[in-house]
Amino acid sequence: MEFLDLKLQYKNIQKDIDTAIKGILNSCVFIMGKAVTDLEEKIAAYCNVKYGIGLNSGSDALFVALKALNIGEGDEVITTPFTFVSTAEAIVLVGAKPVFVDIDLKTFNIDPNKIEKKITNKTRAIILVHLYGQPADMDPILKITKKYKLYVIEDAAQALGAKYNRRQVCSFGDVGCLSFFPSKNFGAYGDGGMLVTNNKKIANYAKMWRVHGAKKKYLHKFIGDNSRLDNIQAAILLVKLKYLNKWNNLRTKKALLYTQMLNNPGVITPYINPKCTHIYHQYTIIVRKRRNELVHYLKQCGIPSIIYYPLPLHLQPAFKYLKYSAGDFPMAEQASQQVLSLPIYPEISTENQKKIVNRIECFLNKK
Ligand SMILES: Cc1ncc(COP(=O)(O)O)c(C=O)c1O
Repeated sequence: MEFLDLKLQYKNIQKDIDTAIKGILNSCVFIMGKAVTDLEEKIAAYCNVKYGIGLNSGSDALFVALKALNIGEGDEVITTPFTFVSTAEAIVLVGAKPVFVDIDLKTFNIDPNKIEKKITNKTRAIILVHLYGQPADMDPILKITKKYKLYVIEDAAQALGAKYNRRQVCSFGDVGCLSFFPSKNFGAYGDGGMLVTNNKKIANYAKMWRVHGAKKKYLHKFIGDNSRLDNIQAAILLVKLKYLNKWNNLRTKKALLYTQMLNNPGVITPYINPKCTHIYHQYTIIVRKRRNELVHYLKQCGIPSIIYYPLPLHLQPAFKYLKYSAGDFPMAEQASQQVLSLPIYPEISTENQKKIVNRIECFLNKK
């Protein structure tokens, strides 16, 4: 059994994907082609915003978003310690300081009740993460960001297609950041990412950043980088975009089946904020006790599972200089010790899901 079987997905759409790749090979337009601009328009429309700018990864999109907002040395940016490292890494890379706020253990997303206490006169922005595919609690968060005039960046690397109050993620903040890493719910066949925004200035900055700060070829207004999304990846994603809603719905169906079957006091199944449509990039449970033993047991049974994330960011060696210690963010720390993500993807068979649940039950009932 695989944690994520991308081969099944490829088999289902092979003809269209092969045709799309061949089209790019025949055109020999590999950099900044029509597929990139088409995808940018379509993703922007999908997210209900004006502009989409293809970049080379989700990490890149976060970095460029902060640069475009002119955030740097002396600034503080609030975010969650329970996310992939990129979210906070981008803040450090632009020269600013990440300020962590604990999560709500029910949703694994930033706890809006704990944000205000962390705001200082240096705070310029907040990066929200819609973790595992469930949007952060936008209503109370936006109330705070409006009050303190903070920029809002949505890290939607795990959540394209998720909704809050029936509105697409990436349409709430000043900037939305997407990752097309192959294992994402909307993944390419290589690295890729996109920044989406309603703000023309941010869009123009990102467009120039990705071509070394140039608007006109060989005229560089500022120092940028090579940060482009490949035309071949964009062509692949254009094919996949047609299936995104269907795939997200299938993920939800599979998630509901897990939740129905996993009826055991030893685990807590995902909580859904009633305002949210969760797209289950991950199906993540809390294992109250002996989580690591369960991982080992499942592995022995041939069942893969993954811990996203085993060490919260404030306890990572790379962030030691921020001088946080164990106990500073108890919910994030508890999550790190108890979460477990089970295989979920649109093509996963009911038979495999039953097998996974059966083995979990076996383990929980054994001791
Ligand atoms: C929450 C989150 N943010 C950012 C990223 C970075 O995306 P990428 O791997 O495309 O750089 C990822 C993906 O790994 C992610 O899960």
